[in-house]
Amino acid sequence: MRRLKSLLAIASMTAIMLAGCNSFPGRPTKAELPLRPSNVTDFAALYGENCAGCHGADGKSGAAIAMNNRIYLEIIDDASMRHVISDGVPGTAMPPFAQSAGGSLTDRQINLLIAGIRKTWAAVSSAGSGAPPYSNSTPGDSNRGAQVYAANCQSCHGADGKGGTAGSVVDASYLSLVSDQYLRSIVIAGRPDLGHPDWKSAASGQPLTPAQVSDVVAWLSSKRPASPLAQSN
Ligand code: HEC
Ligand code: HEC
Repeated sequence: MRRLKSLLAIASMTAIMLAGCNSFPGRPTKAELPLRPSNVTDFAALYGENCAGCHGADGKSGAAIAMNNRIYLEIIDDASMRHVISDGVPGTAMPPFAQSAGGSLTDRQINLLIAGIRKTWAAVSSAGSGAPPYSNSTPGDSNRGAQVYAANCQSCHGADGKGGTAGSVVDASYLSLVSDQYLRSIVIAGRPDLGHPDWKSAASGQPLTPAQVSDVVAWLSSKRPASPLAQSN
């Protein structure tokens, strides 16, 4: 539930910021600022201003997936990362950042962010070797997913997914704020910053197979209320 509350708080905060920003009286014009925002090239400043609010200072412990997660950085390629950062994920709390998509960052700044995230947090490691692929090529089966859930997730998230020692993973509002791809990223790469295991440290003692990852994501997805914005990838 903590997840959900922080994502909801962030979603409404962003709406207020977006609505209020340009009309605030006394706000310095771009020319009066020490450095035009589009000229900022320092990774820490770019990340701190644009990403830390949701993905956490130091790349961890935010409402959304940690950017310092090595397994995650091993499974996602630059093109996929660029796509998400540039265009956002419609229907979720991840906003678009590319100027071409109505955001405030230049393509160069987005490339600097990707390079900076990798340089700062992707220490050479093999933590992700053998991991199921980032993208799903075969659709999962939610009935099989229920069994995967029972064997690997319910010990923490409760028999029905509504929460145990860890929070609910079937809450309608939470599932409405995240895509299936995101749930997949979480199931594979984990949230080591919060105590949620990665695919190879699954509760059954056996690493999750690619099919099991797809199946448990299909099960989570089946709990999402129907919505025109629901993601289906
Ligand atoms: C050892 C306990 C544990 C197990 C086992 C576990 N989780 Fe988690 N999970 C957590 C904790 C702790 C969090 C952090 C948030 C919270 O407390 O709810 C979390 C968070 C999550 C989130 C939200 C992540 C986010 O950033 O939005 C999802 C989705 C999730 N778990 C799904 C699963 C699934 C699916 C499985 C089984 C494959 C699973 N969990 C197994 C402990 C666990
Ligand atoms: C208002 C909150 C918010 C801000 C600000 C934000 N993100 Fe996100 N981000 C999210 C959420 C929520 C998701 C999950 C989207 C989904 O469900 O697919 C996400 C997803 C992502 C993903 C893809 C995760 C995956 O599953 O592969 C990347 C990469 C990412 N964000 C990077 C960034 C970077 C870099 C910045 C700063 C330029 C940033 N985000 C700013 C909330 C945010």
